[in-house]
Amino acid sequence: MINVLDKLFFLTTQTTSYLFHVTEEGHLEHLYYGKRLSHLLSTDIDALKDKHHINIGTEPCYNEDNPAYFLENISLETSTEGRGDYRIPMVVAEYGQGLSTLDFVYKSHTLTKGKPIFHDGNAQAYGTPEDSSTLAITLTDKKLPITLTLYYTTFDTCDVILRKAVLSNDMEGKLLIRNLSSLQLDLFDDNWDLITFDGAWSRERIMDREPLRSGTHVNESRTGLASSDHNPLVYLARPDATESHGLVIASNLIYSGNHKESIEVSPFGKTRLLTGINDSLFAWTLNQGESFGTPEAVLTCSEDGCNGASDHFHLFVNAHIIRGEWRYRERPILVNSWEASYFDINEDKLYELAKQGHDLGCELFVIDDGWFSGRDDDTSSLGDWYPSPSKFPSGLATFSRKVHDLDMMFGIWIEPETVNKKSILYGKHPDWMIAIPGREPVVCRHEHLLDLTKKEVCDYLFKSISEILDTCSVDYVKWDMNTVFADLYSFSVSDMREYPHRYVMALYGLLERFIQAFPHILWEGCASGGNRFDLGMLCYFSQIWVSDNTDAFSRTAIQGGTSYGYPPSTMGCHVSNSPNPQTLRISPIDSRFNVACFGDLGYELDLTELGKEEKTTIAEQISFFKLFRPIFQFGTFHRYNHDSIIQWTSISNDKRTMATLWMQPLNPSNAKSDRLFIEDAEEDAVYDVFPRSQRIPLSLFGHLLKTVKPLATAGETVQKVVSENLTLPSEVEHYTVSGSVLKHAGIKLNQQFSGTGRDSQTRVFSDFGSRLYLIKKH
Ligand code: GLA
Repeated sequence: MINVLDKLFFLTTQTTSYLFHVTEEGHLEHLYYGKRLSHLLSTDIDALKDKHHINIGTEPCYNEDNPAYFLENISLETSTEGRGDYRIPMVVAEYGQGLSTLDFVYKSHTLTKGKPIFHDGNAQAYGTPEDSSTLAITLTDKKLPITLTLYYTTFDTCDVILRKAVLSNDMEGKLLIRNLSSLQLDLFDDNWDLITFDGAWSRERIMDREPLRSGTHVNESRTGLASSDHNPLVYLARPDATESHGLVIASNLIYSGNHKESIEVSPFGKTRLLTGINDSLFAWTLNQGESFGTPEAVLTCSEDGCNGASDHFHLFVNAHIIRGEWRYRERPILVNSWEASYFDINEDKLYELAKQGHDLGCELFVIDDGWFSGRDDDTSSLGDWYPSPSKFPSGLATFSRKVHDLDMMFGIWIEPETVNKKSILYGKHPDWMIAIPGREPVVCRHEHLLDLTKKEVCDYLFKSISEILDTCSVDYVKWDMNTVFADLYSFSVSDMREYPHRYVMALYGLLERFIQAFPHILWEGCASGGNRFDLGMLCYFSQIWVSDNTDAFSRTAIQGGTSYGYPPSTMGCHVSNSPNPQTLRISPIDSRFNVACFGDLGYELDLTELGKEEKTTIAEQISFFKLFRPIFQFGTFHRYNHDSIIQWTSISNDKRTMATLWMQPLNPSNAKSDRLFIEDAEEDAVYDVFPRSQRIPLSLFGHLLKTVKPLATAGETVQKVVSENLTLPSEVEHYTVSGSVLKHAGIKLNQQFSGTGRDSQTRVFSDFGSRLYLIKKH
């Protein structure tokens, strides 16, 4: 909801309020962002304004008649260079002789129901007149016909405010944009911790929390993609804010290219947050009559800690970012061929894998890399989107029919944006590849980017890939991208600083064509794992592959970090081999499942090679998951880590059922007593609490088996056969407990195994051992 009282703008959502007003000089002063203010008096404005009565020291005054008005010490909704605000500016635009001094003051505003649709090529959120309202404020420069329009859309039930800026040039000359952030938020004080989500390939979005210090902290990507280095998601949290308590403010960007979040603590202890396209690899020329619209930025705030803010983002992403048929649809359990056999695939082998997946309960079979002509390793054939006749002698369409006959969906992997030099496509169109003439290009995984800003390139990709999607009745596509931007050059662009943004816009255009033409397809994004996990991609893909690292313990940090901005329904999570191919870590198959089930579950290992016990385990996992899938994918997801224990809880929308992950990274030996707290329990309710039954392989006990009768006397061969093929049921533990005990006192759990004995109640945990506790309300 948005109210305007004279020149006070009062934005409210279910639990938050955001206030700003027009100062006596015409600037927009930010007044408040935080817990919802239930009512305002007309006199409250005096209390909310920052007070400046006297000019101090060498502070430049904006105006001789107003000597204490110093832009640098005012919380502003927008900022420029050259008028006394020396913090990082939201708008930098040059006109004549490199001048960049601009001064935007209030001109007018409009209020509309719903969320406007912009036709500037950006990916964008959507809303209806029932769930959103938009305020557009037009500011003009005091001297030049340059206009800045700030958009604020409130989404009441998600507690999100969407921000966007549009800069328009009506001068006769050119205006060169050097920076235009999507959002500026100036907070009154500097008592914040900054939380960012950083990493690299196979360790994406690891949460990092540090107190803010004076000066500027930059969180950015310069690789051309949102990147696994630094996700555009940032949190500012009060130092005492935890997962469940305290004030946090968080922002994210609907953009898939180079981004930059600058967080500056000013000499006057104010904190500025800017987010938008990265200015260091960007410039954009506006001729007279032209405008430039930024990507949209998403802002939220919660008094209920980081879980409160991520609840808002999860609701928002599902309701206003994800589109189409798969929006609230449960995602199928898939089998993916990649870590089962990499490039070594053929139709018989793949059919065996699909059949085995089907027998265990999987619903979708995905052929990953290697299905197209000439692709036997990663050195060749990207760009040649024709099925390999040697791997599919009966044809890919026939193979797809066989998968459909198993009553499974059929999916393929593609990587449309890139090309190998060793390919038919490159032979025919070397100029479609991005490279600077005369300079040997940097290469990543033997591949190069195609110039998507060329219409003929997009037309070729759309036509050749559409043909496969049609003829093979494809139900699911994994859209990968395994390179980064380097040696950018295109004949079609005159200023290369425009190119990275033009590429992203061209990519969005191509994706829009595909999703319009194939609305039934479930699209999953991927970029060397999670190198492009962002809100821009989620406007086209309902889910994204979180990381190539499928190790259960690593995934607790990777999925946990991702969950601060993105709901579990958007996260592709697979059970894979042990030892894990990325970390060589050995972890129980149930832990791999217990972590992967908090998202879009899949299996990425050779199911045909597994022993009987492992197959039974997987079949049980899948049946369990099918029962609880709506909770894991679309329930409320909360993180509650205690000491070294990793604990996540998913809560059903009717709040009657919860599932909690409890993972102990290392076995401490002779463990202390463990307690299970469920902070989301309702005080007055009564719950049944019990662990999902798991299978403990006898092999886990190693040489200890030789000491247990009757195995001790049975001889080595019998011991080996028994330990490889038999399992024990996990502990029996069941409580009927009040919500207040569950929330405040915790359940004192059964003893852990520690080498000297076991009975049916002993909780047996190896390193990276875990349980899923089910909590059902009476
Ligand atoms: C990338 C993806 C993997 C797999 C391979 C195939 O690395 O992240 O999941 O699809 O490509 O080449």
